[in-house]
Amino acid sequence: MTGRFITIEGIEGVGKSTNVDFVAEHFRARGETVHVTREPGGTPMAERIRDLILAAGRDELSDLGELVLMFAARAEHLESLIRPALERGETVVCDRFTDASFAYQGGGRGLDPEVIDRLRIAVQGPLQPHLTLLLDAPLEVSAERIAGRDWQDRFEQEKTEFFGRVRAVYLEIAAREPDRVKLIDASQPPESVQAAIKAKLDRI
Ligand SMILES: Nc1ncnc2c1ncn2[C@@H]1O[C@H](COP(=O)(O)OP(=O)(O)OP(=O)(O)O)[C@@H](O)[C@H]1O
Ligand SMILES: [Mg+2]
Repeated sequence: MTGRFITIEGIEGVGKSTNVDFVAEHFRARGETVHVTREPGGTPMAERIRDLILAAGRDELSDLGELVLMFAARAEHLESLIRPALERGETVVCDRFTDASFAYQGGGRGLDPEVIDRLRIAVQGPLQPHLTLLLDAPLEVSAERIAGRDWQDRFEQEKTEFFGRVRAVYLEIAAREPDRVKLIDASQPPESVQAAIKAKLDRI
């Protein structure tokens, strides 16, 4: 596969969706064909699974069920969109990917990372993002930025401690895989965040 696979990660409200198009434009300006997509979701079936997960009440869906649905959506996304694009030599920019499963279902929910890793291998094999931008900010910044939302999904309804565990796993992944995962201080104003992102992208 000759294409480029970039993912954007981080807890709620750090600016993933705000910056995904900025990242895409960077590669379009180089003449690349770029797909902007997200997880869970990215294909019609995976978006249906996304809706199922995010609308599920806490007692309607088990933690393990949540994890398996995430990977079911990911299998569809990889099969129908990500792999074909990468095989054509195109660029894929994805708002969240498997690191989020380790952070949310592992860190947040407390599921065994080895179980998550087995699903990862079954669903994606050796495929890994070439670059992951981890937008990181303190929990208060995250909470402030999502405070105005009138509907809160299954994750947004969680408590501060949950997001603390999610953030901690993200930072562990960044420390373990510094070549792939680039840490961006997302608490800065938007222009500074984009300058930091651009500095990372210019180097690949
Ligand atoms: N650097 C920034 N400074 C201040 N506000 C920001 C910054 N980046 C994004 N925002 C604002 O914060 C809010 C959340 O941003 P955004 O939706 O991009 O976050 P997200 O990471 O995609 O969140 P979620 O995980 O819930 O999808 C938006 O209102 C956005 O305009
Ligand atoms: Mg978003």
